[in-house]
Amino acid sequence: MRILDISKVQAGHYELNALDEDIGPILESCISAIRQQAADKQIVLNLTVAPNLPKVHLDVTTVQSIIHELLANAIDFTEPNGTIEVEADREESNVVIRVEDAGTGICEDDIDRIMLPFEKGKNARSGDYARGGLGLPLALELTKLQGGRLTLSSVEGEGTTIRLIFPAAASAAAGRHRPQTS
Ligand SMILES: Nc1ncnc2c1ncn2[C@@H]1O[C@H](COP(=O)(O)OP(=O)(O)OP(=O)(O)O)[C@@H](O)[C@H]1O
Ligand SMILES: [Mg+2]
Repeated sequence: MRILDISKVQAGHYELNALDEDIGPILESCISAIRQQAADKQIVLNLTVAPNLPKVHLDVTTVQSIIHELLANAIDFTEPNGTIEVEADREESNVVIRVEDAGTGICEDDIDRIMLPFEKGKNARSGDYARGGLGLPLALELTKLQGGRLTLSSVEGEGTTIRLIFPAAASAAAGRHRPQTS
């Protein structure tokens, strides 16, 4: 129950089992889990993971839920025969995951509102009762809970990019910044 998960996070009762993890295999598992849904719309999912990424301290199941929500949205709002890019890269001491689609995009007036529970954008068909308006708020809360940030940028008619920014796991960051001893 996603609404229950949001409530748990807000009440401080959501339990994480975080370990230092490689992001590549996590993204691969997310993509294979949803590949059929994409294939049904002839949508191609591409994954690019930069080499030698530092590990990230996170809960695998929770990150899979976050990525699932983002991919489900990207597939829903992309026309058949489209392409969705998932990328993981290092930016300074962070690992950044990008989910980018070239779908409908989101109207500027909707962008702040859709991060709130139960809110849908104008691009969601009014009769689409299957949409709960819960995916993005849940992804946002679960990302913050793990010390990450979620940013959304979108241009109506061009597409949407979500970035998840996680600090590299402490040991990796510490290794790179270890002061020299003489
Ligand atoms: N990749 C995207 N492209 C275009 N619009 C998007 C995208 N992701 C989200 N949106 C807009 O944001 C709204 C909220 O997304 P959110 O995932 O929170 O809910 P939902 O997809 O409508 O319903 P649910 O995820 O509960 O099934 C969507 O209804 C849609 O208007
Ligand atoms: Mg959704």
